[in-house]
Amino acid sequence: MFLSSLKLANFKNYSLQAFDLSPRLNCFTGLNGMGKTNVLDAVHFLCLCKSHSGAADKFLVRHGENFFRLEAVFQEDTGPVPVVAKFPLGQRKEIEKSGTVVSRLMDYIGQFPVVMIAPDDVALVQDGSEERRRFMDNTLSQISSDYLQNLLTYNTLLKQRNALLKQFAEEKSFDTVLLESIDRQMPAPAAALHKQRQYFVEALRPLFAEYYREISADYEQVDARYTSDLADGDLKELLQRNLEKDRILQRTTAGPHRDDLGVLMDGLPVKRFASQGQLKSFLLALRLAQYELLRREKGFSPILLLDDIFDKLDENRVRQLVGLLIGRDFGQIFITDTQRSRMEAIVASFTGDYRIFEIANGSVSV
Ligand SMILES: Nc1ncnc2c1ncn2[C@@H]1O[C@H](COP(=O)(O)OP(=O)(O)O)[C@@H](O)[C@H]1O
Ligand SMILES: [Mg+2]
Repeated sequence: MFLSSLKLANFKNYSLQAFDLSPRLNCFTGLNGMGKTNVLDAVHFLCLCKSHSGAADKFLVRHGENFFRLEAVFQEDTGPVPVVAKFPLGQRKEIEKSGTVVSRLMDYIGQFPVVMIAPDDVALVQDGSEERRRFMDNTLSQISSDYLQNLLTYNTLLKQRNALLKQFAEEKSFDTVLLESIDRQMPAPAAALHKQRQYFVEALRPLFAEYYREISADYEQVDARYTSDLADGDLKELLQRNLEKDRILQRTTAGPHRDDLGVLMDGLPVKRFASQGQLKSFLLALRLAQYELLRREKGFSPILLLDDIFDKLDENRVRQLVGLLIGRDFGQIFITDTQRSRMEAIVASFTGDYRIFEIANGSVSV
């Protein structure tokens, strides 16, 4: 599976640009602020129906315009699949696949798997557990539409439950029946999330360690550990046990919404002990493990978006990495960099098909 063409209309700093892509390696060069990351984000949106940055759709519309539209042709073994993503300001976004509007996005997400490796990945280590849940959710949502369904269901119920707890506190009231009607529905999706996250982390760990060994010159052992309140019992039990506490704090204090993925180097939390260089290798290995896991689950290679990869690795290591990725029958790769010469050095040793694009102020040329 790969993208053969891309068209951006009123997307971020692009007014209208269309170009054809290499099935293997696409390099985008240009100065900072010209729109390199925005191209990768357009690809991300076409695959996952949302921006990599987590920004709301309205911020993706070019300033002063009232819609954006992305068009792409994905090439699958069975033939071309044209996809259109449109977002008119103030309305719902819509995805059209092969001329038909997709009625549930969760059925679409995962058909064209994608992994983005970006400078803001450092949030995975430095920020709170939310980023790491997002990492797990992002992967599992692409693997299983059931997972995404359970996640949405759980999050909706959690919101309702917290609103109810707040309302009880404000009105100094308590309605057991109302609360129980929510509590009864939560354990099933919670258990499904728990089980799949557990499975995910177990599958990720050996890949993660292996990639770290390949990328890093050092010999630390890296690992990931899944932690969850649900290790102490199912959600039904937890909700009962914590009822008093939840009422006082006016929120649900235990459940999969508090899950975390502990990230370790030689058994210690990486946030506190890793050097800058180790941290970069660590994050890269984590993303590549995610990529490899998705590839195995899907049976084909996801699209790989490498944003500002030279921030993480020197030129030789990037060449080695690209060689490794392409050599292992990896799929289509997009790379951005400010320096054209570095891109040219990378592709010089690459015998497959490639294209180098020059980006200046929202305009793309070959
Ligand atoms: N909604 C928007 N409308 C117009 N311009 C935007 C919008 N969102 C982002 N931009 C512009 O896009 C540019 C950044 O593009 P980006 O792809 O991040 O550049 P880089 O080449 O450094 O990766 C900035 O100049 C920013 O102002
Ligand atoms: Mg950028």
